[in-house]
Amino acid sequence: MTFSSPEELQAAAKQHLWMHFTRMSAYNNGDIPVIVRGSGPYVYDDKGKRYLDGLAGLFVSMIGHGRTELAEAASKQASELAYFPLWSYAHPSAVQLATRLAELAPGDLNRVFFTTSGSEAVESAWKLAKQYFKLRGEPGRYKVISRDIAYHGTSMGALAVTGLAAIKGDFEPLPAGGVRVPNTNFYRAPDFVAADEETFGIWAADEIERAILREGPDSVAAVYLEPVQNSGGCFPPPPGYFQRVREICDRYGVLLVSDEVICAFGRLGYYFGSERYGYVPDIITFAKGVTSGYAPLGGMIVRDVLIEPFLTGHATFLHGITFAGHPVSSAVALANLDVFEHDNILGNVRANEDGFRATLEKLRDLPIVGDVRGAGYFYGIELVKDKGTRETFNDDESERLLRGFLSHALFDAGLVCRADDRGDPVIQLAPPLICTQEHFDEIEQILRSVLTEAWTKI
Ligand SMILES: Cc1ncc(COP(=O)(O)O)c(C=O)c1O
Repeated sequence: MTFSSPEELQAAAKQHLWMHFTRMSAYNNGDIPVIVRGSGPYVYDDKGKRYLDGLAGLFVSMIGHGRTELAEAASKQASELAYFPLWSYAHPSAVQLATRLAELAPGDLNRVFFTTSGSEAVESAWKLAKQYFKLRGEPGRYKVISRDIAYHGTSMGALAVTGLAAIKGDFEPLPAGGVRVPNTNFYRAPDFVAADEETFGIWAADEIERAILREGPDSVAAVYLEPVQNSGGCFPPPPGYFQRVREICDRYGVLLVSDEVICAFGRLGYYFGSERYGYVPDIITFAKGVTSGYAPLGGMIVRDVLIEPFLTGHATFLHGITFAGHPVSSAVALANLDVFEHDNILGNVRANEDGFRATLEKLRDLPIVGDVRGAGYFYGIELVKDKGTRETFNDDESERLLRGFLSHALFDAGLVCRADDRGDPVIQLAPPLICTQEHFDEIEQILRSVLTEAWTKI
């Protein structure tokens, strides 16, 4: 079926397509945005209008759009071997990619288990932790600790790890064992630890220890943490936080899972976010940027010790996914990593991240901007009703501000980003890693004009 006009395509989209996490009624009286092509950090809609992709699609398009070498790698692999499973077989692209990822990963994280998505990676890590502890003679360890408001995916297991009550309730009962601890939102730190970031970080890390003790150390399998927590609007770790968490995990024999579905592959200027913050996790979960979105792929990289019980006798990790480590996706990931090397993508982020921060910081002069936080090419801008008191918007105001105005206005002004109120209202930015000062300026100018108008509407 082809469509002879944008109007026909629009009508068919309204009739047949179900968009994710989307209030479909929002399009009863308006058009669904249709993006048809991309080039570098820009995408274009079906009417030819250009947008700066300030969210890299969905934290995905690291090297930007339109790189033909990745398309060629996909075509070459599909012609040679389009599909074969990793169930009892290997294929060269998956082997090469696993080897390359093991080389890039910190410490002795040398073994790669592929998936097709981030949710599957998160869920695979939980299943591995459970089976690993059973094989090791600690069958009671099944609980997983994660942070308030943290998003770790939508499949039932990943949703049980996710800390966003609003997207869980309708799917209860979820798998048992999810335990919540505070996140590292320093802007909203409780008064008794708000004096300095270090004290706050130690308190937040110690809350993990308190949760382990409360639950019973023999029942806890893993702690899931993003290097920089996305949901809630970019919470970087306070100094010393991850070092303390690592100590706590070691003390109680709990696995540390670094959920790097967003933070890996350059988002923070390193291949892995854990590298930036100087800790070695037991498992890294990844997806999104590993292919820059030219094909779907995810997975987990695990320490040698975690595969040991599976290397002898009858032991088998009882888990698999048909398309995991798909040959085409693996070939695309290899081509993506080639671009990272040839174009010095990490170097670009490291050279320009201060400029990105400084440009966004300029927005602090607006009355609606309460906080600007993040790292690398990953920022959240928290919107407040009163800067002095840090008072946030109530549900009704947030609804009018974010859904009623900001989301559309920013897009209409030519910027793809995300106005999110899963925690306090924030604007999230994660542009392609090829961006430079001219793109930061464009982002700042659009945000300035739209946020200035938003203030008049409160
Ligand atoms: C930290 C984190 N974990 C897991 C996921 C789930 O990934 P996917 O949407 O590929 O299932 C996401 C998605 O945004 C994420 O940000």
